Amino acid sequence: MNELLRHYADTLESLNAQGLLRLLPSTERKGLLDFSGNDYMALARRPELVEAATKAGHLYGAGATGSRLLSGNTPVHEAFERRIATDKGTEAALIFASGYQANAACIAALLDKSILGAEPIVFADKLNHASMHLGCALAGVRQTRYRHLDLEHLKVLLDKHATESRPKVILSESVFGMDGDQADIAALQDLALSFGALLYIDEAHATGVFGPRGYGLCEAVSLAPSTVVMGTMSKALGVSGGYVACAGIVRDYLINKAGGFIFSTAPSPLTVAAGLKSWELLPSLNAERAALLARAETLRKGLRGLGLDHGASTTHIVPVIFGTPERALSARDALAAQGITTSAVRPPTVPQGTSRLRIGLCATHTDQDIERLLTALGSL
Ligand SMILES: Cc1ncc(COP(=O)(O)O)c(C=O)c1O
Repeated sequence: MNELLRHYADTLESLNAQGLLRLLPSTERKGLLDFSGNDYMALARRPELVEAATKAGHLYGAGATGSRLLSGNTPVHEAFERRIATDKGTEAALIFASGYQANAACIAALLDKSILGAEPIVFADKLNHASMHLGCALAGVRQTRYRHLDLEHLKVLLDKHATESRPKVILSESVFGMDGDQADIAALQDLALSFGALLYIDEAHATGVFGPRGYGLCEAVSLAPSTVVMGTMSKALGVSGGYVACAGIVRDYLINKAGGFIFSTAPSPLTVAAGLKSWELLPSLNAERAALLARAETLRKGLRGLGLDHGASTTHIVPVIFGTPERALSARDALAAQGITTSAVRPPTVPQGTSRLRIGLCATHTDQDIERLLTALGSL
């Protein structure tokens, strides 16, 4: 075997031996009770989205045909950005082909040492998403990690570096995707402002589910120009794509410096139009949001009754923490045998010793579905 292929094969063997090999799940999902998705508000299959996509396709084509800076800028891209900015309470917004790309491109550009004149000090929650780490790695910047959601610890670290003249940046998710717990956005912004730091918040899992009209945990906070809010269209909006809501100057800077924006074809008008339609539907879904969160509470109560550990979840994302990869995989397989789909999440996605099933609740799940899941978990 070619030497490189041998390295790849050895890696796969080693991952398999540790219970960490990733395999694509079956495409057959009919009739299964599915807790593995991120379509939290059940919007992905709404006919309004398909209609909006079809209409945009007829007007602008199936593909954007180029970067936004070349041929890919359409009225639907600009309309969506205006709407995001209005609803997030920022001056401007910019959309990307995916949330992963948005984080990698924006964080890398915002941390650019050659522009800031020095390596910024980046304070990052320990459990931030891989795409945020990628942005830091692309910028060649070391992260100063604070304990998950521990703002006391963050303050200690900020104090320690207070006299340094290097620029400071704080990175955090708002609802954490693997733990289902929440950051205190107002407190984070207060800290950032008092230390002159830029605050970057990833609302991937909060958009659609939290906020007075469903526009995320940041919706209830008056955002400073030095706060950048990122989110995705791929979770509760049921489509795909990413965005940042930010000051106008930040948008203009990203248009000029974010490689993942400049050198990538604009997202398809089909997905942008469907995303915009989803976004417009969010304010009408308050009852669905309340029911979703109430069901999550029922699930957590049931898990505690079974002696199972749901960590610090307070949202529609509920982990069931088993510890070892083998136990998480075996729980996933046992549930699958009963027609219930969950995701087994293992290191490096989550810390060692916290392998888990990740239960993602969706607005269409019923009390009976939760009961069925609990009964199946109780029989493990
Ligand atoms: C917190 C967080 N940020 C960003 C992303 C990437 O978003 P996308 O799936 O739109 O690429 C994810 C995806 O899982 C995520 O969980």
